[in-house]
Amino acid sequence: MELLNEGYEIICVDNCYNSSPDVLNRIEKITSKKVKFYHDDILDAAALKRIFSENKVDAVIHFAGLKAVGESVSIPLQYYHNNISGTLVLCQAMKDANVKNIVFSSSATVYGLPKSLPIQENFPLSATNPYGQTKLMIEQILQDLYVSDPGWSISILRYFNPVGAHKSGLIGEAPKGIPNNLMPYVTQVATGKLPQLKIFGNDYPTPDGTGVRDYIHVSDLASGHSAALKRVLSQTGIDVYNLGTGKGNSVLELLHAFEKASGRKIPYEFVPRRSGDIASCYADPTKAKKELHWETTRDLNEMCEDSWRWQSQSSGKTSD
Ligand code: WQD
Repeated sequence: MELLNEGYEIICVDNCYNSSPDVLNRIEKITSKKVKFYHDDILDAAALKRIFSENKVDAVIHFAGLKAVGESVSIPLQYYHNNISGTLVLCQAMKDANVKNIVFSSSATVYGLPKSLPIQENFPLSATNPYGQTKLMIEQILQDLYVSDPGWSISILRYFNPVGAHKSGLIGEAPKGIPNNLMPYVTQVATGKLPQLKIFGNDYPTPDGTGVRDYIHVSDLASGHSAALKRVLSQTGIDVYNLGTGKGNSVLELLHAFEKASGRKIPYEFVPRRSGDIASCYADPTKAKKELHWETTRDLNEMCEDSWRWQSQSSGKTSD
């Protein structure tokens, strides 16, 4: 939507494994602009060849990937095939079509257990799960691609913890099944779909003992992509940027902010730590501010208000 409102023509390619095409109708309702949609998989080289031949493509924003940390541990082959092979097929199709501008959706999970906080882009990288490993490997693939041909323009965006929804309440996160992530779980407790929140550990070395994360509003994330797209369209090179607020909030802080935003009590119980979790993680977003002229503008309260508006208006909707 951000890009449509800025006048870009958008082509969406999605296999709808964890989304529904209905969201495009809602985007059209909000923006009065159409998105060209191909119900295809980036693993399908022939489909990508057709798409690039039917359209004049200036740049690609690559979001396509499986992204559940816990799931990646139980089905690693599907994660490596989908995320890595899919990226290789996509980049080859781009190369064949002479399209060399790409923005890639990476993740703060590539920092593993950070050496200190806040996290900067030049910190050591490591992966503690197959999902994080795929992001790390794709970053390496893109670095090698650039070395092979400096005509590419590549922007790698490391998301911290995306939450929230479009302020209209028409578009938001609706994961299929029981949510892995905190915010969608809390919103489903608020609507009564789930009985209570299990807080994974209250014995971390943090102010209130619960995990601290850098929650970023999805609309701020969207404007970060728009800023990165402008950069890849204006110059060649390869850059990595943290997309975060630079502020950490604990699980309990998010829970209380959500109770205030929704007016609903969120019952919870403390349970043992979740394997693979770290105590604290938040960004130093200075580089994106300096080079992309981008920074976040929405705080935790707005993230909770927008999440609640989406959840309360869409309860029972399929995934987007
Ligand atoms: C946040 C905090 C949990 C659920 C993951 C990926 C990362 C990114 C965002 C894609 C932690 C606690 C959670 C629950 C809880 N995804 N929690 N009860 O693990 O920081 O990051 O999602 O880019 O790559 O690793 O996010 O929302 O799962 O957890 O107490 O039911 O909430 O322990 O402290 P996480 P999360």
